[in-house]
Amino acid sequence: MSTMSDPEWQPIDLGVDRPHSARIWNYWLGGKDNYAADRDAGDMVAQLIPGITDSARADRAFLGRCVRHLVADLGIRQFLDIGTGLPTADNTHEVAQRLAPESRIVYVDNDPLVLAHARALLVSSPQGTTRYIDADLREPARILESARETLDFSRPVAIMLLGILHHIVDDDEAYRIVRQLIDAVPPGSCMVLAHATAEVHGEAMHEAMRRFMEMGGTPIVARDRHRLAGFFDGLELLEPGVVSCSRWRPETGPGEAPAEVSQFCAAGIKR
Ligand SMILES: C[S@@+](CC[C@H](N)C(=O)[O-])C[C@H]1O[C@@H](n2cnc3c(N)ncnc32)[C@H](O)[C@@H]1O
Repeated sequence: MSTMSDPEWQPIDLGVDRPHSARIWNYWLGGKDNYAADRDAGDMVAQLIPGITDSARADRAFLGRCVRHLVADLGIRQFLDIGTGLPTADNTHEVAQRLAPESRIVYVDNDPLVLAHARALLVSSPQGTTRYIDADLREPARILESARETLDFSRPVAIMLLGILHHIVDDDEAYRIVRQLIDAVPPGSCMVLAHATAEVHGEAMHEAMRRFMEMGGTPIVARDRHRLAGFFDGLELLEPGVVSCSRWRPETGPGEAPAEVSQFCAAGIKR
């Protein structure tokens, strides 16, 4: 990476005049790494979907529960986390390496601000590894080639796609990307998904997405649980299937189903 003292140093264009998915997410999670355009878009969505900050928190809590399950119960030690987002509490490597310090994690994102903060994602346990790749999900072959330098693709890998696949709006393209990723990993691997849906808030969610795109935000689409289940074709869906992030193996007492949020999720195993 170049520094300001290098003759070839170029300032990074953060695109602060447009809302960015990573920074809005950071705003909803109570972080400080966001700009006026992100806060305006985040507030617009929150007006239409008042529980949207709960969605972001439920997604992160799902990430924690799911990674713990994969490490502790299924013995997964390798993670390819695409659409990492800005560092926050309990990033994938922290959750995994707390239970299995030897875990190896490759993070991938295409946002320049995430790249600038990537150092915070690279603080691995001494026994494990974390690495960051600046790449776009639309180039799965490039991601896989680079990830192979760190991950052993003859052993199970968890492909994490949390809060990113809804930015691939074309269904065929999204299914093709997922298929290419799954085809590259061996049996015992898994795919973890968290994705925006309009199943909970209906037209208000579609309207929020339309306005977000009018404000210059990254294209985004809502998918229902049927279309989300399609991404797991050929995989064994873990219980409870495709559900609201808040309802995937919640740590609440029996009979206390948490309220649904507009981010659905699922995890599936390749047999
Ligand atoms: C809403 S954040 C989700 C962060 C984290 N995975 C989570 O669930 O908390 C979505 C992330 O995906 C990244 N992203 C969106 N489209 C992308 C693409 N085509 N390629 C790579 N990263 C992308 C954004 O930059 C952002 O950091």
